[in-house]
Amino acid sequence: MKFAHILLKNTSRFNIPKQVDRFSKFSPSPLSMKQFLDFGSANACEKTSFIFLRQELPVRLANIMKEIDLLPDKLIGTPSVQLLHTWYTQSLMELVDFLEKDPEDKNVLGKFTESLINVRNRHNNVVPTMAQGVLEYKEAFGVDPVTNQNVQYFLDRFYTSRISTRMLMNQHTLIFNGSTNPAHPKHIGSIDPHCDVVEVVKDAYESSRMLCDQYYLMSPEVEIEQMNSKDSSEPINMVYVPSHLYHMLFELFKNAMRATVETHENSTYLSTN
Ligand SMILES: Nc1ncnc2c1ncn2[C@@H]1O[C@H](COP(=O)(O)OP(=O)(O)OP(=O)(O)O)[C@@H](O)[C@H]1O
Ligand SMILES: [Mg+2]
Repeated sequence: MKFAHILLKNTSRFNIPKQVDRFSKFSPSPLSMKQFLDFGSANACEKTSFIFLRQELPVRLANIMKEIDLLPDKLIGTPSVQLLHTWYTQSLMELVDFLEKDPEDKNVLGKFTESLINVRNRHNNVVPTMAQGVLEYKEAFGVDPVTNQNVQYFLDRFYTSRISTRMLMNQHTLIFNGSTNPAHPKHIGSIDPHCDVVEVVKDAYESSRMLCDQYYLMSPEVEIEQMNSKDSSEPINMVYVPSHLYHMLFELFKNAMRATVETHENSTYLSTN
């Protein structure tokens, strides 16, 4: 009986291709910022990056597909999650095709970049689609706190996995497209080796402030102090992806502004418009 139960448990509810089993046996390779920079430095090699990614991307996709498969049946059954699963399957198969291709062939490298762009576009709407699925599921079935916590745990891992695969695909397509980014010639792919933190803070503050003004007709001011312990006359900079930093700060500012306006409505630090 126990054996039968285990067999049943292991029977996938999707018609998961063998490739998912094959690649999910590997763990994703963690990459440091330094490795990202080295991959994009002057002696960056498209062939090396290709050989790495044609294995690493399927590994990351397959690992997260295995986790999708562990979600509650009713969540998996929503049209949104079904759709999302077809995207992952298709992308996985497309990438796996390159394992038999010759890395010395320039044509293959070109096709690979095209595929990465296709995959990236296919997955553009993953975040709202997954959110839609979770919403449908919660509305239709109601969710107990434990399931809710499990789904939250999954979502955190799912979105993190998506950020990492997109980062890998972006780096490859940006670095090996034959030209530098005219707006940011010093960037390595999406990484700014001298990301000016305060500049990004200001940008995020301004966007959040606009929203806050629209909604509450007032917004808190900001005072920025920077202390660069290395050289106090220099702005703080770090090796980072500015768009990622911006997104995080934007979310923080929105939260902070909302809390400030709602609990300190009469403060002198709130400017009304
Ligand atoms: N700076 C803060 N001060 C006080 N409460 C906060 C602050 N930041 C967040 N919170 C509380 O934590 C909750 C969760 O924040 P979170 O950013 O995850 O979601 P949200 O702001 O409600 O929605 P979303 O960010 O998705 O638009 C908020 O609804 C708020 O009650
Ligand atoms: Mg928020």
